[in-house]
Amino acid sequence: MNPSKTALEIVHHLPPHYLERTLREDVRAGLSEPAKTLPPKWFYDQRGSELFEQITQLPEYFPTRTERQILEDHAGEMAAASPTETLIELGSGSSRKTPLLLDALKAAGDLRSYVAVDVSDSALTEANSGLSRDYPDLILQAVAADFESQLQLLPREGHRMVAFLGGTIGNLEPDARARFLTQVRELLGKDGGSLLLGTGLVQPPEILIPAYDDSSGVTADFNRNVLRVLNAELGADFDVEAFEHVAVWNEDEEWVEMRLRATHAMQVQLPGAGLEISFDRGEELRTEVSAKFRPGKIAAELEASGLTIIGQWTDAEERYAMTLAEPL
Ligand code: SAH
Ligand code: AVI
Repeated sequence: MNPSKTALEIVHHLPPHYLERTLREDVRAGLSEPAKTLPPKWFYDQRGSELFEQITQLPEYFPTRTERQILEDHAGEMAAASPTETLIELGSGSSRKTPLLLDALKAAGDLRSYVAVDVSDSALTEANSGLSRDYPDLILQAVAADFESQLQLLPREGHRMVAFLGGTIGNLEPDARARFLTQVRELLGKDGGSLLLGTGLVQPPEILIPAYDDSSGVTADFNRNVLRVLNAELGADFDVEAFEHVAVWNEDEEWVEMRLRATHAMQVQLPGAGLEISFDRGEELRTEVSAKFRPGKIAAELEASGLTIIGQWTDAEERYAMTLAEPL
């Protein structure tokens, strides 16, 4: 097989109209309730993916650079602990940190292929063109799939490492997280394989809130982007600038919530979802939770899904953890 030929191919596991259909379902379920919510996966059209990349460069947003540092310091140990033929990365986005893992896994000796999995086509295309140039000897695959419902379609042969970086697991609520981890355990099967999981750790709100409400307003723009997606995909007529960005620390749940607050009362039409909704002045729509963890909780959630920790690394300030786990 000529890897440079396969490099840019996107394997589409999303059924036709999947995104439109699930967006419509999510919008109907989330915006018809008195407490309005939307799932965060709808931020990531091309503009949303670009805005997320900008967030990762912000001085206030420490998770990306902290995870990068942990990988720079410890990827060799991670690779040694889990010999890997295929690296599968879920929610891979720009795959910017991935080379640190690919290099370590290659040096450890067994790596043959890399599979990037994301709902965002634009992120996959962008990421894989860079990787195909830098890794001509690896088989690269870009898979457009939903990691919450389509893990059963991913490769099951050989020793695999499933990497879930960036703290994206924190964007799932506890029930969805438990379902997701059980599916990862199922994907790994019995004969070898591991999960490398990046998680933000619980920090004081003075550290966390600026990371989600930066002074240059990039996160605010990212947050509002979900309304632009609804306008483009469902023909909705949200006045995007009429919503304020809000980031709050939920002490009970130990997660940061992003919300959009209506600055005046309004009616919004969403013809693609067959909905008309109203907002009171000051009413909030929750667009994301970003859960932060304590080490004991990471271990407990992994164990509950049939996974056990074989290695864990944190930064010096203990703001972020990378955990390597394998089936019990
Ligand atoms: N892992 C990268 C990107 C994190 S941003 C990093 O650490 O920087 C989160 C990524 O997950 C985005 O690229 C988004 O498109 C993707 N994503 C969100 N929900 C998804 C889902 N349900 N299935 C697949 N990808 C998803
Ligand atoms: C992708 N995910 C882990 C990011 C986070 O920190 O929860 C998304 C994000 N939301 C606001 N800023 C970044």
